[in-house]
Amino acid sequence: MRTFVVAGGNSGIGLQVSRNLLGGGDRVIILGRDQRKAEAALDSFGASRERAEFHSVDLSRSAGVRDAADHIRTSSDRVDGLLHSTGVIYDGDVRTAEGIPLFLAVSYLGRYHLTQLLLPHLLKSPSPRVIMMGSYMRKVPEVDVARFPEFRGLSFRQLIPQVNGAVMHYAAHLAASHERLFAGVVCPGLVKTDIFRDAPRSMRVMTAAMRPFVGNDITTAAANPTRALLEGSGRTAMYWRKAASFDDQTTVNVDPTIQQALMDASRIATGV
Ligand SMILES: NC(=O)c1ccc[n+]([C@@H]2O[C@H](COP(=O)([O-])OP(=O)(O)OC[C@H]3O[C@@H](n4cnc5c(N)ncnc54)[C@H](OP(=O)(O)O)[C@@H]3O)[C@@H](O)[C@H]2O)c1
Repeated sequence: MRTFVVAGGNSGIGLQVSRNLLGGGDRVIILGRDQRKAEAALDSFGASRERAEFHSVDLSRSAGVRDAADHIRTSSDRVDGLLHSTGVIYDGDVRTAEGIPLFLAVSYLGRYHLTQLLLPHLLKSPSPRVIMMGSYMRKVPEVDVARFPEFRGLSFRQLIPQVNGAVMHYAAHLAASHERLFAGVVCPGLVKTDIFRDAPRSMRVMTAAMRPFVGNDITTAAANPTRALLEGSGRTAMYWRKAASFDDQTTVNVDPTIQQALMDASRIATGV
């Protein structure tokens, strides 16, 4: 039986991907913070529940990432696929105890850290895959590595391209560094989920107005990440820009100088 890890699998798109994987007979280890949401999720799995487990952990903190990796390494011999579906939206300059913008910690640095710790377990799989959820991008944003990871003075909106760019550079690095490992980034489109609960009012109003015209339902949004985890292949990282159009993938091309600097800075920030 294959084992998948879904970070952010107790809600939204990650939960639907977990459900899809369980439906195919696989085992899923779900990470997230909210135990109550997780229990409702596990209850909704019916007979598949016995192949699912939840570990409550704060992935914005280094200690939380290390705890998650320890738990996974203890409970499974190998990891076949890792989906990063963690995400937050908020207003203002919210930082972790380590002084890093919460958005960067949840949506890039915690993902980098957990993946690096799980690499030996992933590389035991015949077809290891790492998939990260991201936003809509016309091209890969440049990362201002000189300001990484504190990004002092940037608003949440200004952080969005920095985080998306970092995710794309890391996906390209993973795919290029490990011959059998596939890496990809998926944009789910606009989907009504818990992620908007702490969003600025203007963003909530705007997305609510747009959703009837351009929104996707959860099943549609979860289709590409599920298939990417099960079928993604190739030596270069791929990006899915459009929900549920699996064949519509583009190669992730990044600036090698920025990539090297970002990987060095990420290693220094996490120790791995
Ligand atoms: N919904 C959209 O329109 C949209 C658009 C573009 C991209 N995306 C991306 O899609 C992904 C999934 O988002 P979603 O819409 O499904 O939202 P969601 O339902 O809020 O899912 C986000 C997940 O992240 C987890 N999470 C947040 N902070 C965490 C932390 N510090 N430690 C551990 N887990 C944490 C949440 O668990 P807890 O609640 O337990 O913390 C939850 O499971 C995200 O990466 C998001 O950026 C979504």
